[in-house]
Amino acid sequence: MNLVSPEAAGIHTTAPEAATPAPVPPGQGSEHGHQGLPGAPSPAPTASPHPDLAEILVTEEALRAKITELAAAIDADYAGQEVLLVGVLKGAVMVMADLARALTISTTLEFMAVSSYGSSTSSSGVVRILKDLDRSIEGRHVLVVEDIIDSGLTLSWLMRNLGSRHPASVEVVALLRKPEALRVDLDVRYVGFDIPSAFVVGYGLDFAERYRTLPYVGTLTPEVIAAG
Ligand code: PRP
Repeated sequence: MNLVSPEAAGIHTTAPEAATPAPVPPGQGSEHGHQGLPGAPSPAPTASPHPDLAEILVTEEALRAKITELAAAIDADYAGQEVLLVGVLKGAVMVMADLARALTISTTLEFMAVSSYGSSTSSSGVVRILKDLDRSIEGRHVLVVEDIIDSGLTLSWLMRNLGSRHPASVEVVALLRKPEALRVDLDVRYVGFDIPSAFVVGYGLDFAERYRTLPYVGTLTPEVIAAG
């Protein structure tokens, strides 16, 4: 979950390689696994064009360039093969739509919807399937498409679940990752941006189901978060 916490009113943490210095956070998370394509640090925050947002962390232009870059890497790695893209609803809908169209390899699309048991401020890692895949993935090359990896618990569960269905392979492409929030060791092959552990919205990510359609990723103002 892209969790709202008492600290969620702004950027409180910064990934080690992030471009913009920020206040040092309380430590959390664990080491993550090997990544085939490391996540780039998110660009320096820019002023917000939206009244509810405090800062833009990833601009529309940066998102577009990153999707192109990720698609090129995936095209090269899976050349000559067909890939089954599995989008995790709802957050991944934007990256799924843009990435799928940027790829030149043969692809098919599937979606899953999952819900993590827990409160709004903690993820239990116990996941319930709200919508399952429509067909078997046995023998298929599966690429899970995620908008964000926060604690990593949802993806960790999903990888185990999909792996048990006998695919030829299962890899992950995640647009955003919060390295300092990770609670599990995850092998994520493609990562777009490593971002601070702030609550972010836009480009699929929501706050109470709002802001998913913003074309950029940013942080909400403290007032908007407090108002709920
Ligand atoms: C978000 C996101 C991931 C998950 C990541 O989904 O799309 O699936 O949280 O969180 P984790 O790494 O802490 O497990 P969310 O549950 O907010 O649902 P949504 O995509 O429908 O907004």
